[in-house]
Amino acid sequence: MSEILHNCDVRDITTFHISAKAACVACYDSIEELEQLLADTTLPRPVKHLGQGSNMLFTRDFPGTILISRINERDIDHATDDSVIVAASAGIVMDHLCRDLAALGIWGLENLSGIPGTVGASAVQNVGAYGVEAGEHIARVDAIDTVTGSHCRFDHDMMQFGYRHSIFKTPQARDRYIITKVYFRLTTRPTPRLDYANLQTIVGDNPTATDMRRAVITIRDTKLPDPATTGSAGSFFKNPVITCEHFQKIEAICPDTKVPHFIVGDNAVKVPAAWLIDKAGCKTMTQGGASLWPTQPLVIVNTDGTATADDILTLEHRIIDAVNSRFAITLTPEVEHL
Ligand code: EPU
Repeated sequence: MSEILHNCDVRDITTFHISAKAACVACYDSIEELEQLLADTTLPRPVKHLGQGSNMLFTRDFPGTILISRINERDIDHATDDSVIVAASAGIVMDHLCRDLAALGIWGLENLSGIPGTVGASAVQNVGAYGVEAGEHIARVDAIDTVTGSHCRFDHDMMQFGYRHSIFKTPQARDRYIITKVYFRLTTRPTPRLDYANLQTIVGDNPTATDMRRAVITIRDTKLPDPATTGSAGSFFKNPVITCEHFQKIEAICPDTKVPHFIVGDNAVKVPAAWLIDKAGCKTMTQGGASLWPTQPLVIVNTDGTATADDILTLEHRIIDAVNSRFAITLTPEVEHL
């Protein structure tokens, strides 16, 4: 049965753990219940769907209804030889899926271990870590169109996956489609993705998918705050992509340092935002209850649980200004602001 709560604090349904009031929060346990909620004209509008609220900053009270899926269904189809299609409900916690598939010897999602958020959000956001992006394994998504009420299907090529981007983040589709199921194309053939930094050193030769998962979690633990104890929304900014000419200017500004970077296209260089933030002298900045995580300054944290949305917004703008004045790069937030 759907559970409908009125006048709720979003503190406990977002990973930043920052207070704001939502007029209504409705949790559902089946697609039929979701359809009933969408058809219920007594519920306050607009409607916003959340997963674990792990990429979300409520900057003010929300006058509408927040929908949350509690559907936890998963179907594994061993299609042909070593290829596997896993159909997972959008509300499943992504890390639980990564854990279970690695234990079953199903490869593909192990490098995404430890990322907060749900399966549905992994498609919206095209979450990525340690050399893998969810979108490269997503074959198909089922969704409900909240405008027409119809069920629809998006095949891989329709979803415009890019760096932290999909069609579900475009103005036309954002909040219009509610993802109900994600179909991942995976494999039972051992395919460790070891290109990221010291993964190879940690796992050694012939790792299992669970070895890969453990190594990724070990690296995450050394760099990122523990979501169980420290509120954050993961990387707050995207890593910017600049021209080669701009990159050379940055090298000239920092002649004594090797500037970390990745060539991502013709005349396109990605520079880690964490490095820019560090070199712009922002690492020790604080604003009320907000600060930057010492080992990964790309993550803004709710230091001691007292941060307000204004603290985060002010700190965000101070960081953007500092990086802009030093490097002439305008950082873009990755975290959704509502
Ligand atoms: N660095 C500094 N100073 C510091 C810390 C780091 O200069 O104090 C430098 C490091 O030397 C390194 C870079 O900054 O060159 C950080 O690179 P890292 O590989 O740690 O990751 P990232 O590019 O900052 C991205 C994702 C993370 C993901 C990691 C690992 C984005 C926005 N973030 O971060 O994703 O876990 O790669 O693949 O692309 C998330 O999206 O929430 C997230 C945590």
